[in-house]
Amino acid sequence: MTMRASSSKTQRAHEADFLVIGSGVAGLRAAIELSRSGRVLMLTKGHSLESSSSYAQGGVAVALSEEDDVGVHLTDTINAGHGLCRPEAVRVLVEEGPERIQELIGWGARFDKVGGKFAFAKEAAHSRNRILRARGDATGNEMVKVLMARAHRERSIRWLEHHFTVELVVVDGVCRGALVLDESSGTRFVLPSRAVLLATGGAGQVYARTTNPPSATGDGMAMAYRAGATLEDMEFVQFHPTALYLPSSPPFLLSEAIRGEGGQLRNIKGERFMERYHPAGALAPRDVVARAIWSEMAATRARHVYLDVTHLSASFVKRRFPTIYTTCLRYDIDITEEWIPVSPSAHYLMGGVRTDTSGATSLPGLFAAGEVACSGVHGANRLASNSLLEGLVFGQRAAVAAREFVAGGTRLLPSVRELDGGPLEVLEDSDKLRSSLRRLMWGKVGLVRTGDSLTSAVAQLSRWERAVSRPFRSRTDLEVKNMVQVAHCIAEAALWREDSVGAHYRADVSRKKRAGRTQHSILSNQGLITVGNATVRDGVGLTKEPTVRRFGARSPNR
Ligand code: FAD
Ligand code: SIN
Repeated sequence: MTMRASSSKTQRAHEADFLVIGSGVAGLRAAIELSRSGRVLMLTKGHSLESSSSYAQGGVAVALSEEDDVGVHLTDTINAGHGLCRPEAVRVLVEEGPERIQELIGWGARFDKVGGKFAFAKEAAHSRNRILRARGDATGNEMVKVLMARAHRERSIRWLEHHFTVELVVVDGVCRGALVLDESSGTRFVLPSRAVLLATGGAGQVYARTTNPPSATGDGMAMAYRAGATLEDMEFVQFHPTALYLPSSPPFLLSEAIRGEGGQLRNIKGERFMERYHPAGALAPRDVVARAIWSEMAATRARHVYLDVTHLSASFVKRRFPTIYTTCLRYDIDITEEWIPVSPSAHYLMGGVRTDTSGATSLPGLFAAGEVACSGVHGANRLASNSLLEGLVFGQRAAVAAREFVAGGTRLLPSVRELDGGPLEVLEDSDKLRSSLRRLMWGKVGLVRTGDSLTSAVAQLSRWERAVSRPFRSRTDLEVKNMVQVAHCIAEAALWREDSVGAHYRADVSRKKRAGRTQHSILSNQGLITVGNATVRDGVGLTKEPTVRRFGARSPNR
């Protein structure tokens, strides 16, 4: 194989001790922590404000109110996770969460207050009012704004926007940097670093209907998997019950907080139905509400149900949900006067790159935090509003662990070149593949799954995965490749779990508990662990076909 000339000038210009990939809540919090320990390079595809974090509405769950207690937050989180949370991770989340939020307030975050006291809202499956919000329904925007401002004050953090990470560099079993594509010039170069922190968010775009922004294509999970890191619990995809359903609109999220304030669900005949499914009615756990909506849609042969807030005072609705009110108005729906058509949409991936409670992955030198990671906090179903908190808590922890790893004596690679896997290609009919993939996942690996639907999805995804095993030139083609690989992992894991647990619902098996339902699914691509010298494989010029290995039992690194 021939070697592509390295772009060493660019490499030197961006030399960093720590590479943080992703500028959502998790990446920002990590970068701030690392800024005291060396040179940090903050890398993000597209604009640095484009992330799921920026769109988060409902709020951030934290046990800070007088009526609350970290023990109750812990119990609620574990109950939501259906036996698959790692209790030590949940303990870290709820115990360190209050400190992280107080810190954010100290940096200038303004959470809404009533009568001089923080206004704690209620959301599904929380037994206390514990959701802090900002500007009604703009919580993520406020948190990102404050973290961004804080990070921009740190001179040791440099920013590289519009740079797409293609692949992780693994040398002798240790992650030592990343291969990056400059989106404007099309050049690719390797960025060496002493540790890499992955904070690339989720993968909602693999589904035809999703609340996630276009950037949520699962890149971090796909590249970590190709690099040899372990993925865990990929079958657990959370579907949000209420996304706007209009032929002309994207599935814009209608926050669960709307139901927390008394919003009701009605089928197309106008009947309230949630009481028939769960004693908590519209505030039942998220997976229960999503499946109840699914059943009502099937029973009434409709593509949506309605969310009704017309019984609440119009001034309250406008003040409490300003973003939602104005966005719906843009689609000619005045939510104070009309019922809102809604249906479920893919929202959050509980699985991801397996980490321990310090954010370390199974690949030395690689740390992960936020939605890309499976920290053990969410189990089979995430408790609403726990993920912004997770990003702060585990972003900070992963940074501390990366700092300790580097203190152990890793050096920067002197120069790295990309191993040439042949000419970079254009993926033919990339848009068509993307759309077919999204429809396949929605239809066969969605809210309701069966052994047959999963088997046929896995077969199709295997064919597509073979078809994308080539080196691509553009960001969009590379994203489609990542989406195919992540979708394949989700489908494989879902097929392995022959049981209904939390967000994973198999219509072809009974709800009866089976042995092994508390085991985690582990995916690892054992063929591709290391590169023996200072070069990077871009995951395409590979000699060995990636193989999905399914372990039926516990994770090997437990
Ligand atoms: P993100 O915020 O998604 O950031 C990912 C970053 O990685 C981005 O900067 C992206 O550009 C970058 N990136 C990705 N791939 C690459 C690549 N290949 N190269 C370079 N950069 C890359 N959770 C709550 O707790 N409360 C809520 O109220 C809430 N509301 C939500 C509302 C919506 C509409 C959505 C979509 C999610 C909501 N969630 C909420 C979930 C929560 O927002 C996310 O789980 C969380 O913000 C994820 O943060 P993160 O830092 O892990 O990733
Ligand atoms: C919402 O506002 O409903 C989203 C909250 C979350 O996903 O945590």
